Parts: sequence; C-alpha cells; structure tokens
Amino acid sequence: MTAQNTKKTGEPALVRLPRHIAIIMDGNGRWAKRRGLPRTAGHAAGSETFRRVATHCKNLGLDYLTVYAFSTENWKRPPEEVHAIMGLLDRYLHEAIEKMERDGIRLRILGDVELLPERLRRLIRETDEISTHISGFQANVCINYGGRDEIVRAAQRYAERLAADPGAGALTEETFSGLLDSSGIPDPELIIRTGGEMRLSNFLLWQAAYAELYFTDTLWPDFGEKDIAEALEAYARRDRRFGGI
Ligand code: FPP
Repeated sequence: MTAQNTKKTGEPALVRLPRHIAIIMDGNGRWAKRRGLPRTAGHAAGSETFRRVATHCKNLGLDYLTVYAFSTENWKRPPEEVHAIMGLLDRYLHEAIEKMERDGIRLRILGDVELLPERLRRLIRETDEISTHISGFQANVCINYGGRDEIVRAAQRYAERLAADPGAGALTEETFSGLLDSSGIPDPELIIRTGGEMRLSNFLLWQAAYAELYFTDTLWPDFGEKDIAEALEAYARRDRRFGGI
C-alpha cells in the first residue's frame, strides 16, 4: 500500500492494496428470480451496484477497476435481455458524459466495439475524448469482450504491423501487451467473481497471469463495501511470489 493510498481513506490501513481490481459481475439473474422479478431488473440493479462500487474503489485509492459487463458469448442470451443490457450501458455512458469530469472518473471501454450499436459506439467515442482530459482513477468496462477474442485481435494487429513494416521488430510479451485492448493498463492484481461460480469465463485471460482470484457467493446486486473490504483483506493476506520462492 502506498502512502498516497493511505491518505485517501479514513478506514483502517490495509497492509497491501492492489492498484487494479477486476470483477466478473455475476448473479444478476438469480438476484431478480429470488424476488420474482424479470432478469432485466437484476441487470438494472447490477448497473447501480457498478456505480457504487466504482465510486468506492476510487475513494479507497485504487487506480483501476475493470468490470465484465457483456461478453462475446452474451449475444446468445434472449434478444430482449441483450437489448436491456445494451440500454443500461447506453444510459450509463450517457450519464457518464455529463458527470465523469466532475466525479474524476476516467472511462475506457475494452472489447470489440465494432459490433456494437452505432449509438453506443458514438457514446464510447465521446467518453474516450472526455477521458483524455481527466487524470486519476480509471474504470474499464468490458463490452463485447472475450479474452481469446482480444488475443486474436492483438495477433491480427501484429500481423498487419509486420505486413506494413517487415522490420517491425521481434514480438515480446511487452509488445504483445501493448497490442491488447488493455494496452497501457497494468495487469489486475486481484480478480473477484461474485455469484458463486469459480471460473474466469474468458475474462482477461492474458492479464490474469499472476492475479489473485477471489470468489464470493454474494450476488452482484448485493455486492457492497463490506464485500470489497473482505476481498481486499483476503488479498492482503496472500503471499504473492510470481514464480519465485
Ligand atoms: C451476469 O449475471 C451479468 C451480466 C452478463 C451483465 C452485467 C451487466 C450489468 C451489471 C449492467 C450494465 C453494466 C454497467 C457497467 C452499467 P447473470 O445474468 O449471468 O446472472 P445469473 O448467473 O444469476 O443468471
């Protein structure tokens, strides 16, 4: 934990705070079902949870939060559910354009945005533009994102670079990282999955190489400050050796 981190929060000092946490926001559908509500109500509640969690992470002094909002596989869901999630993302970006400068939250969208509705792409371009004027905390929202798809697109970029300039240089882990959607963002030290499942589901496959994984049964709409504190405490207790001893 850096001195900067400790200053930003009045809470008990954690031994070690990650710079970047990433979250698989799972359990919206079950949360809604338990209340006799449509699944889309779970996503609406989940979108509010994201707003609260992002603000809390910023206040704690983290530098980055990355969330999995819509995967390359999520297109298989019923059209009305896909439509509802796209609508929530649209609304979120629309509101972010108004508020991100005031709130000091930079936004970046990761994923293959080419396949998203034009309106959403326009909002993404606008948030990108505003983000260039903001420094500090950054929220990354993965939309139409898949870890394998991201790696394949990065490989295609490298092939294009090489075709244009055969002397472009050898491919290293570092240059490859720079071709991913997450270029310039440090790898997450902690990946949290809510909703009780214990898998990565194609999330940040390259970036997860050394991440600590934390799973909780809490359903995403119920995930709050206490759950974040528990995950950060578990992280602080872990012994990270990166292959050393
Ligand atoms: C997983 O829960 C959740 C999703 C696939 C969608 C996540 C989307 C949001 C939280 C809303 C928009 C986000 C932002 C950033 C504004 P699930 O539906 O798989 O839940 P289940 O496993 O209980 O069915």
